[in-house]
Amino acid sequence: MEGQIKRIGVLTGGGDCPGLNAVIRAVVKTAIRRYNLEVIGIIDGFYGLVNDIMEPMTEEKVAGILHRGGTILGTTNRDNPFRYAVEKEGQLTFEDRSEQCIENLRRRGIDGLVVIGGDGSLSIGLEFHKKGIPVVGVPKTIDNDLSATDVTFGFDSAVTTATEALDRLHTTAESHHRIMILEVMGRYAGWIALYSGVAGGADVILIPEIPFDLAKVCDHIRARAEKGRKFSIVVIAEGAKEMGGEMVVQKMVAQSHDPVRLGGIGQSIGQKLEMCTGMETRVTVLGHVQRGGSPTAQDRILSTRYGSAAVDAVMEGKFGHMVALRTPKILAVPLQEAVGTAKQVNPDGQIVKAAKSVGISFGD
Ligand code: F6P
Repeated sequence: MEGQIKRIGVLTGGGDCPGLNAVIRAVVKTAIRRYNLEVIGIIDGFYGLVNDIMEPMTEEKVAGILHRGGTILGTTNRDNPFRYAVEKEGQLTFEDRSEQCIENLRRRGIDGLVVIGGDGSLSIGLEFHKKGIPVVGVPKTIDNDLSATDVTFGFDSAVTTATEALDRLHTTAESHHRIMILEVMGRYAGWIALYSGVAGGADVILIPEIPFDLAKVCDHIRARAEKGRKFSIVVIAEGAKEMGGEMVVQKMVAQSHDPVRLGGIGQSIGQKLEMCTGMETRVTVLGHVQRGGSPTAQDRILSTRYGSAAVDAVMEGKFGHMVALRTPKILAVPLQEAVGTAKQVNPDGQIVKAAKSVGISFGD
């Protein structure tokens, strides 16, 4: 495709996460240095594509952003061009604005589009690919729930933040002889809870993939207290649920690709644990702290590799593909394989097994 492609576009879609700027930087630098391309930054994700808000990217614009959290391009997890929310006479209605996007890309002379996003943004990218737009995806999300890649960038940073929170909760839990609950993000997958729980020495990890029995969690905490361990640390994923119970929904965001926003399970389990153990319990909801701030070294490296490989994939004509880590290599895999089915923790997998071996309860 070299020679045919002169100008590429790049956008960041969905919830932000550490490493986005590192990917943007790698895309811009690789495109300019390696392939002598022009790069157009699309502002605020698909919102900017619908409304034609774009600006040329230069090496100067991406200087000094490798370590910065967020995205210099801006993002939104609301604007789906195929189901674009429009308010008419006070009523929210949805319109297909995809042709408008295609026209904007054509008018701007964009020959390849790099979409940096999670399953929502990459599903939209796939729809555009089916309409003939040359799309290459980059797998982003703190949740690590995208299939077809070993890991998404942003995950390691979120785990590191959650682990640091657990280290801090440990000292105060021990001093006060309390149960400390940390609710972490992750949507329908328990990756952040599992990894941070193991790294942070949690006593209980509760994840969506393993519905829990509250009585077993209580027994585990009481048994620890009887052995003189008069505090316990519980990490709970926002999507965790009791056996026979439901996930706790915090709110619905109608315009979003996935309108469900989870949250609140920590508080309800905290009350129940206090009742059944008689131990004072406090709940911390880590929230968007997990999405903010600097990427870890590992995420900076992964993001740089992904960004650079995405431009290579565009130049090789691998449209409708996503760059993916298949350790130790970065490959291009069909977007279709990446979206649709969330990658979840295997309840019988090695990490869960190792965690159980060192005495962590999953409440099952
Ligand atoms: O997908 C990333 C994520 O942070 C999830 O872990 C969380 O459930 C959701 O986004 C929160 O979305 P919002 O930014 O709309 O509150």
